[in-house]
Amino acid sequence: MLLLLAAVLCAAARGQEATGGRFVCNAIPPGAEPGCGYGSTGNRVQSSSPLEDELRNTILQLRETILQQKETIVSQQGTIKELNSKLARCEGSRRKEYGKNTMGDLPRDPGETIDQLGKTMQSLKGRLENLEVRWHQQIASGLRELLRQRLGALETQLLRKVAELEEEKSQLYNETAAHRQRTESALNSLMERITELEKSNNAFKSPEDFKVSLPLRTNYLYGRIKKSLPEMYAFTVCMWLKSSASPGIGTPFSYGVPGQANEIVLIEWGNNPIELLVNDKVAQLPLAVSDGRWHHICITWTTRDGFWEAYQDGERLGTGDNLAPWHPIKPGGVIILGQEQDIVGGRFDATQAFVGELSQFNMWDRVLRPVDIMGLANCSAYMPGNVVPWIDANVEVFGGASKAALEICEDRAFDS
Ligand SMILES: *[C@@H]1O[C@H](CO)[C@@H](O)[C@H](O)[C@H]1NC(C)=O
Ligand SMILES: *[C@@H]1O[C@H](CO)[C@@H](O)[C@H](O)[C@H]1NC(C)=O
Repeated sequence: MLLLLAAVLCAAARGQEATGGRFVCNAIPPGAEPGCGYGSTGNRVQSSSPLEDELRNTILQLRETILQQKETIVSQQGTIKELNSKLARCEGSRRKEYGKNTMGDLPRDPGETIDQLGKTMQSLKGRLENLEVRWHQQIASGLRELLRQRLGALETQLLRKVAELEEEKSQLYNETAAHRQRTESALNSLMERITELEKSNNAFKSPEDFKVSLPLRTNYLYGRIKKSLPEMYAFTVCMWLKSSASPGIGTPFSYGVPGQANEIVLIEWGNNPIELLVNDKVAQLPLAVSDGRWHHICITWTTRDGFWEAYQDGERLGTGDNLAPWHPIKPGGVIILGQEQDIVGGRFDATQAFVGELSQFNMWDRVLRPVDIMGLANCSAYMPGNVVPWIDANVEVFGGASKAALEICEDRAFDS
Protein backbone atom coordinates (compact mmCIF):
# COMPACT_ATOMS: atom_id res chain seq x y z
CA MET A 1 0.00 0.00 0.00
CA LEU A 2 2.69 2.50 0.99
CA LEU A 3 4.93 1.44 -1.83
CA LEU A 4 2.14 2.00 -4.25
CA LEU A 5 1.61 5.55 -2.92
CA ALA A 6 5.28 6.25 -3.17
CA ALA A 7 5.23 5.03 -6.75
CA VAL A 8 2.32 7.36 -7.58
CA LEU A 9 4.14 10.27 -5.99
CA CYS A 10 7.21 9.37 -7.89
CA ALA A 11 5.34 9.35 -11.17
CA ALA A 12 3.87 12.73 -10.34
CA ALA A 13 7.27 14.14 -9.46
CA ARG A 14 8.77 12.85 -12.69
CA GLY A 15 5.93 14.50 -14.51
CA GLN A 16 7.24 17.80 -13.21
CA GLU A 17 10.72 17.22 -14.38
CA ALA A 18 10.16 16.73 -18.05
CA THR A 19 7.85 18.68 -20.22
CA GLY A 20 8.09 16.08 -22.90
CA GLY A 21 6.96 12.49 -22.58
CA ARG A 22 6.46 11.35 -19.04
CA PHE A 23 8.74 8.84 -17.48
CA VAL A 24 7.20 5.50 -16.73
CA CYS A 25 8.02 4.85 -13.15
CA ASN A 26 8.28 1.38 -11.81
CA ALA A 27 7.52 0.65 -8.20
CA ILE A 28 10.49 1.48 -6.08
CA PRO A 29 11.95 -1.43 -4.21
CA PRO A 30 11.61 -1.01 -0.45
CA GLY A 31 14.42 1.05 1.03
CA ALA A 32 15.42 2.59 -2.27
CA GLU A 33 15.79 6.36 -2.73
CA PRO A 34 12.38 7.60 -3.75
CA GLY A 35 13.98 10.37 -5.78
CA CYS A 36 12.77 8.98 -9.09
CA GLY A 37 16.33 9.21 -10.37
CA TYR A 38 15.97 12.93 -10.08
CA GLY A 39 19.51 13.34 -8.93
CA SER A 40 20.95 11.52 -11.90
CA THR A 41 18.72 13.23 -14.43
CA GLY A 42 18.89 16.64 -12.79
CA ASN A 43 21.76 17.61 -15.01
CA ARG A 44 19.49 17.47 -17.97
CA VAL A 45 17.70 20.51 -16.72
CA GLN A 46 20.02 22.99 -18.17
CA SER A 47 17.91 26.03 -18.77
CA SER A 48 18.04 28.37 -15.85
CA SER A 49 15.25 30.89 -16.26
CA PRO A 50 13.97 32.23 -12.92
CA LEU A 51 10.72 30.45 -13.55
CA GLU A 52 12.40 27.09 -13.92
CA ASP A 53 14.58 27.69 -10.87
CA GLU A 54 11.51 28.40 -8.81
CA LEU A 55 9.84 25.26 -10.04
CA ARG A 56 12.93 23.22 -9.35
CA ASN A 57 13.04 24.56 -5.82
CA THR A 58 9.43 23.65 -5.29
CA ILE A 59 10.08 20.17 -6.52
CA LEU A 60 13.08 19.84 -4.24
CA GLN A 61 10.93 20.94 -1.33
CA LEU A 62 8.31 18.37 -2.27
CA ARG A 63 11.02 15.76 -2.44
CA GLU A 64 12.12 16.72 1.02
CA THR A 65 8.57 16.33 2.24
CA ILE A 66 8.31 12.96 0.59
CA LEU A 67 11.53 11.86 2.22
CA GLN A 68 10.17 12.89 5.60
CA GLN A 69 6.94 11.02 4.90
CA LYS A 70 8.96 7.99 3.95
CA GLU A 71 10.80 8.10 7.22
CA THR A 72 7.49 8.38 8.99
CA ILE A 73 6.16 5.44 7.02
CA VAL A 74 9.27 3.40 7.77
CA SER A 75 8.99 4.19 11.46
CA GLN A 76 5.26 3.40 11.32
CA GLN A 77 6.10 0.13 9.64
CA GLY A 78 8.46 -0.60 12.47
CA THR A 79 5.76 0.31 14.96
CA ILE A 80 3.19 -1.81 13.18
CA LYS A 81 5.56 -4.73 13.08
CA GLU A 82 6.28 -4.28 16.78
CA LEU A 83 2.60 -3.95 17.55
CA ASN A 84 1.81 -7.01 15.51
CA SER A 85 4.40 -9.03 17.35
CA LYS A 86 3.18 -7.64 20.65
CA LEU A 87 -0.34 -8.41 19.64
CA ALA A 88 0.64 -11.94 18.71
CA ARG A 89 2.55 -12.32 21.95
CA CYS A 90 -0.29 -10.75 23.78
CA GLU A 91 -2.84 -13.07 22.23
CA GLY A 92 -0.59 -16.01 22.88
CA SER A 93 0.08 -15.04 26.52
CA ARG A 94 -3.56 -14.11 27.03
CA ARG A 95 -4.35 -17.63 26.40
CA LYS A 96 -1.60 -18.58 28.90
CA GLU A 97 -1.13 -15.52 31.25
CA TYR A 98 -4.58 -13.99 31.42
CA GLY A 99 -4.83 -10.53 33.06
CA LYS A 100 -1.32 -9.17 32.31
CA ASN A 101 -1.63 -5.49 31.23
CA THR A 102 0.71 -4.65 28.40
CA MET A 103 -1.56 -2.29 26.50
CA GLY A 104 -0.36 0.92 28.24
CA ASP A 105 1.96 2.05 25.37
CA LEU A 106 -0.36 1.10 22.59
CA PRO A 107 -0.20 3.69 19.83
CA ARG A 108 -3.11 5.12 17.90
CA ASP A 109 -5.10 2.92 15.61
CA PRO A 110 -2.73 1.93 12.71
CA GLY A 111 -5.68 2.04 10.27
CA GLU A 112 -6.28 5.67 11.21
CA THR A 113 -2.60 6.53 10.69
CA ILE A 114 -2.51 5.01 7.25
CA ASP A 115 -5.71 6.79 6.43
CA GLN A 116 -4.11 10.10 7.43
CA LEU A 117 -1.02 9.33 5.43
CA GLY A 118 -3.16 8.59 2.44
CA LYS A 119 -4.83 11.99 2.84
CA THR A 120 -1.47 13.74 3.06
CA MET A 121 -0.29 11.94 -0.06
CA GLN A 122 -3.50 12.88 -1.78
CA SER A 123 -3.05 16.56 -0.97
CA LEU A 124 0.58 16.39 -2.05
CA LYS A 125 -0.51 14.79 -5.25
CA GLY A 126 -3.02 17.58 -5.71
CA ARG A 127 -0.35 20.20 -5.15
CA LEU A 128 1.92 18.51 -7.61
CA GLU A 129 -0.84 18.42 -10.18
CA ASN A 130 -1.48 22.10 -9.61
CA LEU A 131 2.19 22.77 -10.04
CA GLU A 132 2.15 20.73 -13.18
CA VAL A 133 -0.74 22.78 -14.60
CA ARG A 134 1.02 26.00 -13.62
CA TRP A 135 4.23 24.70 -15.18
CA HIS A 136 2.47 24.12 -18.46
CA GLN A 137 0.74 27.47 -18.24
CA GLN A 138 4.03 29.16 -17.54
CA ILE A 139 5.78 27.27 -20.29
CA ALA A 140 2.98 28.43 -22.56
CA SER A 141 3.24 32.00 -21.32
CA GLY A 142 7.04 31.71 -21.62
CA LEU A 143 6.54 30.65 -25.19
CA ARG A 144 4.11 33.47 -25.64
CA GLU A 145 6.67 35.89 -24.18
CA LEU A 146 9.35 34.45 -26.45
CA LEU A 147 7.00 34.72 -29.38
CA ARG A 148 6.13 38.27 -28.39
CA GLN A 149 9.85 39.15 -28.20
CA ARG A 150 10.47 37.52 -31.56
CA LEU A 151 7.54 39.41 -33.03
CA GLY A 152 8.81 42.61 -31.46
CA ALA A 153 12.23 42.09 -33.01
CA LEU A 154 10.64 41.30 -36.34
CA GLU A 155 8.50 44.39 -36.07
CA THR A 156 11.57 46.50 -35.32
CA GLN A 157 13.38 45.03 -38.32
CA LEU A 158 10.35 45.64 -40.48
CA LEU A 159 10.11 49.26 -39.33
CA ARG A 160 13.81 49.75 -40.02
CA LYS A 161 13.36 48.30 -43.49
CA VAL A 162 10.37 50.56 -44.10
CA ALA A 163 12.40 53.58 -42.94
CA GLU A 164 15.22 52.58 -45.28
CA LEU A 165 12.77 52.24 -48.13
CA GLU A 166 11.27 55.63 -47.28
CA GLU A 167 14.76 57.14 -47.34
CA GLU A 168 15.48 55.50 -50.69
CA LYS A 169 12.17 56.73 -52.00
CA SER A 170 12.96 60.27 -50.82
CA GLN A 171 16.38 60.13 -52.47
CA LEU A 172 14.83 58.78 -55.63
CA TYR A 173 12.21 61.50 -55.48
CA ASN A 174 14.88 64.18 -55.01
CA GLU A 175 16.91 62.79 -57.87
CA THR A 176 13.79 62.71 -60.00
CA ALA A 177 12.96 66.26 -58.97
CA ALA A 178 16.49 67.45 -59.74
CA HIS A 179 16.39 65.62 -63.04
CA ARG A 180 13.03 67.13 -63.86
CA GLN A 181 14.32 70.59 -62.96
CA ARG A 182 17.34 70.12 -65.22
CA THR A 183 15.12 68.88 -68.02
CA GLU A 184 12.71 71.78 -67.54
CA SER A 185 15.45 74.39 -67.58
CA ALA A 186 16.97 72.76 -70.65
CA LEU A 187 13.56 72.79 -72.30
CA ASN A 188 13.03 76.41 -71.31
CA SER A 189 16.31 77.57 -72.78
CA LEU A 190 15.56 75.53 -75.88
CA MET A 191 12.17 77.20 -76.20
CA GLU A 192 13.71 80.63 -75.66
CA ARG A 193 16.24 79.85 -78.34
CA ILE A 194 13.49 78.69 -80.69
CA THR A 195 11.47 81.83 -79.96
CA GLU A 196 14.55 83.93 -80.66
CA LEU A 197 15.18 82.06 -83.88
CA GLU A 198 11.53 82.40 -84.85
CA LYS A 199 11.67 86.13 -84.14
CA SER A 200 14.83 86.72 -86.10
CA ASN A 201 14.26 84.13 -88.79
CA ASN A 202 10.57 84.04 -89.44
CA ALA A 203 9.99 87.78 -89.31
CA PHE A 204 13.02 88.70 -91.38
CA LYS A 205 15.12 86.69 -93.75
CA SER A 206 18.19 87.95 -91.91
CA PRO A 207 18.70 90.31 -88.94
CA GLU A 208 19.30 93.35 -91.19
CA ASP A 209 16.40 92.78 -93.58
CA PHE A 210 13.84 94.91 -91.81
CA LYS A 211 12.46 98.41 -91.76
CA VAL A 212 10.90 100.62 -89.10
CA SER A 213 7.51 102.17 -89.81
CA LEU A 214 6.59 105.49 -88.26
CA PRO A 215 3.14 106.08 -89.76
CA LEU A 216 1.92 109.11 -87.75
CA ARG A 217 3.26 112.52 -86.92
CA THR A 218 3.28 112.28 -83.13
CA ASN A 219 5.67 112.99 -80.31
CA TYR A 220 5.60 109.39 -79.13
CA LEU A 221 6.28 107.10 -82.09
CA TYR A 222 9.97 106.43 -82.38
CA GLY A 223 12.74 103.92 -82.65
CA ARG A 224 15.82 103.81 -80.50
CA ILE A 225 19.23 102.43 -81.33
CA LYS A 226 20.50 100.47 -78.35
CA LYS A 227 24.11 101.22 -79.16
CA SER A 228 25.65 104.57 -78.42
CA LEU A 229 28.52 106.24 -80.26
CA PRO A 230 32.17 106.49 -79.32
CA GLU A 231 34.06 109.76 -79.58
CA MET A 232 34.49 110.36 -83.32
CA TYR A 233 36.46 112.74 -85.55
CA ALA A 234 34.59 111.71 -88.68
CA PHE A 235 31.51 109.78 -89.57
CA THR A 236 29.37 108.49 -92.39
CA VAL A 237 25.70 107.85 -91.81
CA CYS A 238 23.59 106.09 -94.45
CA MET A 239 19.97 104.93 -94.59
CA TRP A 240 17.11 104.02 -96.78
CA LEU A 241 14.04 106.17 -96.26
CA LYS A 242 10.60 106.57 -97.76
CA SER A 243 8.30 109.45 -96.97
CA SER A 244 5.67 111.63 -98.56
CA ALA A 245 5.15 113.82 -95.54
CA SER A 246 4.61 117.48 -96.11
CA PRO A 247 5.65 120.00 -95.27
CA GLY A 248 8.99 118.33 -94.63
CA ILE A 249 9.76 114.73 -93.82
CA GLY A 250 10.66 115.63 -90.21
CA THR A 251 13.60 114.11 -88.34
CA PRO A 252 14.88 110.75 -89.66
CA PHE A 253 17.33 110.56 -86.75
CA SER A 254 18.89 112.57 -83.97
CA TYR A 255 21.86 111.96 -81.66
CA GLY A 256 21.77 113.80 -78.34
CA VAL A 257 24.45 113.80 -75.67
CA PRO A 258 24.36 115.27 -72.18
CA GLY A 259 24.75 119.03 -72.57
CA GLN A 260 24.06 118.91 -76.33
CA ALA A 261 20.71 117.53 -77.49
CA ASN A 262 21.62 118.37 -81.13
CA GLU A 263 25.01 116.67 -81.34
CA ILE A 264 24.05 115.17 -84.74
CA VAL A 265 20.61 115.73 -86.29
CA LEU A 266 19.15 115.20 -89.77
CA ILE A 267 15.93 117.17 -90.15
CA GLU A 268 13.59 118.56 -92.78
CA TRP A 269 11.36 120.97 -90.93
CA GLY A 270 8.56 122.98 -92.48
CA ASN A 271 9.49 124.26 -95.88
CA ASN A 272 13.21 124.25 -95.11
CA PRO A 273 15.56 121.98 -97.03
CA ILE A 274 17.01 118.93 -95.31
CA GLU A 275 19.54 120.09 -92.73
CA LEU A 276 22.47 118.44 -91.00
CA LEU A 277 23.21 119.67 -87.50
CA VAL A 278 26.55 118.89 -85.84
CA ASN A 279 26.99 120.29 -82.34
CA ASP A 280 23.91 122.42 -83.12
CA LYS A 281 25.63 124.00 -86.18
CA VAL A 282 23.63 123.76 -89.38
CA ALA A 283 24.38 122.82 -92.99
CA GLN A 284 21.62 122.72 -95.61
CA LEU A 285 21.78 119.66 -97.87
CA PRO A 286 20.69 119.54 -101.53
CA LEU A 287 18.55 116.42 -101.08
CA ALA A 288 14.94 115.84 -102.07
CA VAL A 289 13.38 112.57 -100.98
CA SER A 290 9.75 113.29 -100.08
CA ASP A 291 8.22 111.73 -103.19
CA GLY A 292 6.95 108.65 -101.42
CA ARG A 293 9.59 106.33 -102.92
CA TRP A 294 12.58 104.62 -101.38
CA HIS A 295 15.77 106.65 -101.48
CA HIS A 296 19.22 105.85 -100.26
CA ILE A 297 21.00 108.77 -98.60
CA CYS A 298 24.47 109.09 -97.10
CA ILE A 299 26.09 112.00 -95.33
CA THR A 300 29.76 112.13 -94.46
CA TRP A 301 31.43 114.59 -92.10
CA THR A 302 34.92 115.09 -90.79
CA THR A 303 36.13 117.32 -87.97
CA ARG A 304 38.88 118.50 -90.28
CA ASP A 305 37.50 121.85 -91.52
CA GLY A 306 34.02 120.49 -90.76
CA PHE A 307 33.86 119.08 -94.32
CA TRP A 308 30.68 117.25 -95.34
CA GLU A 309 29.20 115.39 -98.34
CA ALA A 310 25.58 114.58 -99.18
CA TYR A 311 24.65 111.51 -101.33
CA GLN A 312 21.30 110.51 -102.69
CA ASP A 313 20.82 107.16 -104.42
CA GLY A 314 24.56 106.68 -104.66
CA GLU A 315 25.28 110.09 -106.17
CA ARG A 316 27.04 112.87 -104.36
CA LEU A 317 24.73 115.87 -104.73
CA GLY A 318 26.54 118.35 -102.56
CA THR A 319 29.53 119.10 -100.32
CA GLY A 320 30.42 121.86 -97.88
CA ASP A 321 32.75 122.75 -94.99
CA ASN A 322 32.98 124.70 -91.79
CA LEU A 323 30.31 122.61 -90.18
CA ALA A 324 31.42 122.41 -86.51
CA PRO A 325 35.09 122.26 -87.59
CA TRP A 326 37.54 120.59 -85.16
CA HIS A 327 34.66 119.44 -83.02
CA PRO A 328 34.93 115.86 -81.80
CA ILE A 329 31.61 114.01 -81.76
CA LYS A 330 30.85 113.37 -78.12
CA PRO A 331 30.32 109.80 -76.97
CA GLY A 332 27.69 108.19 -74.75
CA GLY A 333 24.57 109.82 -76.18
CA VAL A 334 21.31 108.42 -77.51
CA ILE A 335 20.34 107.82 -81.15
CA ILE A 336 16.60 108.23 -81.80
CA LEU A 337 14.92 107.32 -85.07
CA GLY A 338 12.00 109.52 -86.09
CA GLN A 339 12.16 112.22 -83.41
CA GLU A 340 14.20 115.27 -82.53
CA GLN A 341 15.43 115.36 -78.93
CA ASP A 342 15.28 118.48 -76.77
CA ILE A 343 16.86 116.56 -73.93
CA VAL A 344 18.79 113.31 -74.26
CA GLY A 345 16.32 110.58 -75.24
CA GLY A 346 13.19 112.70 -74.84
CA ARG A 347 11.05 115.84 -74.99
CA PHE A 348 10.05 115.18 -78.59
CA ASP A 349 8.15 117.65 -80.77
CA ALA A 350 5.44 116.23 -83.03
CA THR A 351 6.02 118.92 -85.67
CA GLN A 352 9.58 117.63 -86.07
CA ALA A 353 8.63 113.93 -86.15
CA PHE A 354 9.51 111.82 -89.19
CA VAL A 355 6.59 110.18 -90.98
CA GLY A 356 7.37 107.22 -93.22
CA GLU A 357 9.70 104.25 -93.26
CA LEU A 358 13.36 103.86 -92.41
CA SER A 359 15.88 101.09 -92.95
CA GLN A 360 19.58 100.25 -93.10
CA PHE A 361 20.56 103.03 -90.72
CA ASN A 362 24.30 102.39 -90.54
CA MET A 363 27.10 104.53 -89.14
CA TRP A 364 30.84 104.40 -89.59
CA ASP A 365 33.48 106.43 -87.77
CA ARG A 366 35.11 107.40 -91.07
CA VAL A 367 34.28 108.96 -94.38
CA LEU A 368 33.21 106.30 -96.88
CA ARG A 369 34.44 106.45 -100.46
CA PRO A 370 31.92 107.34 -103.22
CA VAL A 371 32.32 103.86 -104.71
CA ASP A 372 31.34 102.25 -101.42
CA ILE A 373 28.30 104.46 -101.18
CA MET A 374 27.30 103.66 -104.75
CA GLY A 375 27.64 99.97 -103.98
CA LEU A 376 25.30 100.34 -101.02
CA ALA A 377 22.80 102.38 -103.01
CA ASN A 378 22.66 100.05 -106.03
CA CYS A 379 22.34 97.00 -103.77
CA SER A 380 25.55 95.43 -105.09
CA ALA A 381 27.24 95.62 -101.69
CA TYR A 382 26.28 94.96 -98.14
CA MET A 383 28.40 96.76 -95.57
CA PRO A 384 27.12 97.13 -92.02
CA GLY A 385 28.21 100.20 -90.08
CA ASN A 386 31.24 99.65 -87.89
CA VAL A 387 29.91 101.82 -85.04
CA VAL A 388 26.16 101.29 -85.62
CA PRO A 389 25.20 98.26 -87.68
CA TRP A 390 21.55 97.87 -88.73
CA ILE A 391 20.53 94.74 -86.82
CA ASP A 392 17.10 93.81 -85.54
CA ALA A 393 18.37 93.23 -82.00
CA ASN A 394 19.88 96.73 -81.97
CA VAL A 395 16.66 98.59 -82.68
CA GLU A 396 13.76 99.10 -80.28
CA VAL A 397 10.47 100.63 -81.34
CA PHE A 398 7.99 102.53 -79.18
CA GLY A 399 4.56 104.15 -79.21
CA GLY A 400 3.16 102.23 -82.17
CA ALA A 401 6.22 102.27 -84.38
CA SER A 402 6.72 98.83 -85.89
CA LYS A 403 9.23 96.63 -87.63
CA ALA A 404 8.51 94.86 -90.89
CA ALA A 405 10.40 92.89 -93.49
CA LEU A 406 12.38 94.99 -95.92
CA GLU A 407 11.47 94.77 -99.59
CA ILE A 408 14.37 96.74 -101.10
CA CYS A 409 17.56 95.10 -102.35
CA GLU A 410 15.70 91.78 -102.22
CA ASP A 411 17.48 90.12 -105.11
CA ARG A 412 20.86 91.70 -104.55
CA ALA A 413 23.98 89.62 -104.91
CA PHE A 414 26.56 90.92 -102.51
CA ASP A 415 30.16 91.24 -103.62
CA SER A 416 31.56 91.45 -100.11
C1 LIG B 1 15.23 65.62 -50.34
O1 LIG B 1 14.91 66.98 -50.41
C2 LIG B 1 14.32 67.49 -49.23
C3 LIG B 1 13.93 68.93 -49.52
O2 LIG B 1 14.84 69.58 -50.38
C4 LIG B 1 15.29 67.37 -48.06
O3 LIG B 1 14.70 67.86 -46.88
C5 LIG B 1 15.67 65.94 -47.88
O4 LIG B 1 16.63 65.81 -46.88
C6 LIG B 1 16.20 65.36 -49.19
N1 LIG B 1 16.40 63.95 -49.03
C7 LIG B 1 17.49 63.34 -49.44
C8 LIG B 1 17.53 61.90 -49.21
O5 LIG B 1 18.41 63.93 -49.99
C1 LIG C 1 26.74 99.19 -108.33
O1 LIG C 1 27.81 99.96 -107.83
C2 LIG C 1 29.09 99.34 -107.96
C3 LIG C 1 30.07 100.21 -107.27
O2 LIG C 1 30.03 101.50 -107.74
C4 LIG C 1 29.39 99.17 -109.42
O3 LIG C 1 30.63 98.54 -109.58
C5 LIG C 1 28.33 98.35 -110.07
O4 LIG C 1 28.52 98.26 -111.45
C6 LIG C 1 26.96 98.94 -109.80
N1 LIG C 1 25.97 98.03 -110.29
C7 LIG C 1 24.90 98.46 -110.93
C8 LIG C 1 23.93 97.40 -111.39
O5 LIG C 1 24.68 99.62 -111.20
